Amino acid sequence: MKIIICKDYEEMSKEAAKIFSDRIKNKKDIILGLATGSTPIGMYENLVKENKEGKLDFSNVRSFNLDEYLGISEDNDQSYHYFMNDNLFSKVNIKKENTHFPCLDENEDGSHYDKEIEEAGGIDIQVLGIGRNGHIAFNEPAEELNVNTGKINLTQSTIEANSRFFESEDQVPVSAVSMGMGSIMKAKELVILASGKEKADAVKYLIKGDKVSTDCPVSFALLHPNATLIVDEDAAK
Ligand code: PGA
Repeated sequence: MKIIICKDYEEMSKEAAKIFSDRIKNKKDIILGLATGSTPIGMYENLVKENKEGKLDFSNVRSFNLDEYLGISEDNDQSYHYFMNDNLFSKVNIKKENTHFPCLDENEDGSHYDKEIEEAGGIDIQVLGIGRNGHIAFNEPAEELNVNTGKINLTQSTIEANSRFFESEDQVPVSAVSMGMGSIMKAKELVILASGKEKADAVKYLIKGDKVSTDCPVSFALLHPNATLIVDEDAAK
């Protein structure tokens, strides 16, 4: 795994945006794997800026998001649809029909999303934030991890962490649909971002680099042939 340690969040965001911007310029119909959360916001801001300056074209770009809550509507301002629209999609010239989010079918199965990604040609580059407990998307530390996209029951720690975005903890959705570990690891390139000291425990796994564990799902990225970790100094501590 390639590791880039940046001074702070701004620098981390610029480094990540530079990688995404280069890849988009090299492949106009690129397939992006996108993430929500506070971590990639700065990267999206940099990409929006380049688009506004006329240097980056999203007209043929396609995207697949990692996850979405269950039980809240797309136009709820806490949904990941809303987040992506607010932070990226409404600010660049990406076509709405080229953006995708996972959902469940009538049998509560989400693996049709993996087929859709495969049929589109596979994700070229995937951005990932890390939960403080090492989760990626909604793949929480557990004895076993999902391979495919499917339904997830959120852990108490994630509900608590997400409650800062809701008026009260009991409004936080308790389940979600999320890409599985296999869905994520099939991306041709991974860019993992972490900022802040509360991410340091999870980042330690990646920097040590000698073990994977289902207790720290992001550690599976150590098995990926083309992964880059971009962290700020606090997360690297
Ligand atoms: P954050 O969340 O970017 O808001 O820290 C990351 C995550 O929980 O996946």
